[in-house]
Parts: sequence; structure tokens; C-alpha cells
Amino acid sequence: MNQDELKQMAAAAAIEYLDYDMVLGVGTGSTANCFIDLLAEKKHMLEATVASSEATAERLRSHNIPVVELNQTNGLSLYVDGADESDEHLNLIKGGGGALTREKIIAGASEKFVCIADQSKLVKVLGAFPLPVEVIPMAQSHVGRVLAKMGGKPKLRDGFVTDNGNIIIDVVGLDLTDPKGFEHRINNIAGVVTVGLFSERPADVLLLASEDGIQKLTR
Ligand code: 5RP
Repeated sequence: MNQDELKQMAAAAAIEYLDYDMVLGVGTGSTANCFIDLLAEKKHMLEATVASSEATAERLRSHNIPVVELNQTNGLSLYVDGADESDEHLNLIKGGGGALTREKIIAGASEKFVCIADQSKLVKVLGAFPLPVEVIPMAQSHVGRVLAKMGGKPKLRDGFVTDNGNIIIDVVGLDLTDPKGFEHRINNIAGVVTVGLFSERPADVLLLASEDGIQKLTR
């Protein structure tokens, strides 16, 4: 089975979590795209969706799935999204696709967060994947210097502008054995909009696809 097939399998497993008349949060990335394409068959079940990126909103609309703003809702019952890494406690690194801020807002506004991924995303300790940090453009060098002092190697994501008009700095080399502590420390740097550590609001369910089928991890 190739990685695309595994992503497809994880996405299909998340369809089971849909319920009638729900307002659903929808994530960003290739695994989330598999989910969106499957959602097209289930759109009669949904009241509406809230998208975590412009790209996701466009894909949802291409299937005639209704998309509303988060402010038009009273919160979401379910959020389905991928991740770049997860540990066994369902702390995540997200933001490989650059949508981390809206993803974190939607995760926070959702009763249940179901993360879908292939087995390769499960790690013992987070941090092999470069940690994305969304930053206000004028704070680029300041934030870079602080991240370097924390022991990281920051690198500007070249030519990338987020849906919110900001830049992304990807950081490698940080010791993320305390993901919640790092989430707070990095979020507290002036100029940081969001760090792609999802530890304060981790996933509730992780559906991991492998050759052996779906493994379900919960908190
Ligand atoms: C986007 C994300 C994605 O969920 C993450 O990058 C995983 O993407 P993919 O499903 O393509 O591997 O956080 O900001």
C-alpha cells in the first residue's frame, strides 16, 4: 500500500464520526483533502462546514458543500484534520501546509478533534519534523533570534505567505520533550501568532492507517 492509499484509508475511517446536522470543522493538507472528497457523498448529513484554510474552503465549495465562517456558528461538534507528527499522547505538530493558526482556532472551538494520518506520523518524541511558527512579518529576525537562543535552528519558509498575511519560520533542533511548556514559551515570543505545537488542545482521537488496518488511539 502506498502513502496515498493509507491517507485515503485514514480519511474513510473518520467518516464514521459524522452525525446528522453537525457543523464540521475541516482541516488542510493532502489527508484532509482525501476526507473532503469522501465528504462529498455525505454532505446531506451536514448543516455546514468551517474551513481551516482558503484552499480547503475552495475544495469544499467545489463539491457544493456549504462553508460558513466560524463566527456564524456556536462552536463545532467535530474537527477532522491531518498532522505532521503525533506522539502517543496525541500531542501534535501541525502546520506543514501553513494553516496552523486557523487549524488551532478550529481545534479549540471543537468538541471533538479526530486526527487522521498514516502510521509514519506517529513518533516517540515530537520534533523530527521542522516545527512551523507563524510570525508577523516585522518580527521575523527578532523571533528567529529568540528561537535560536532556545536551541533551535530557524529557517524562513521561502516565498510563503499564510492566509492571514504572515510568514512561517520552520524550526529544527528544539528539544520538545515538554511540548506543552514549549507551546507556551514560543507563543509568548512577541511577534509569534501561533506555534504549530498542539499540546494545550491535542487531538482526542488519532486514526492511524497502516498495512494492518486502522489503529485508533485516544486520550
Ligand atoms: C496543514 C497541516 C496538515 O494537517 C499537515 O501538514 C499534514 O498534511 P498532510 O496530510 O498533507 O500530510 O497541519 O497546515
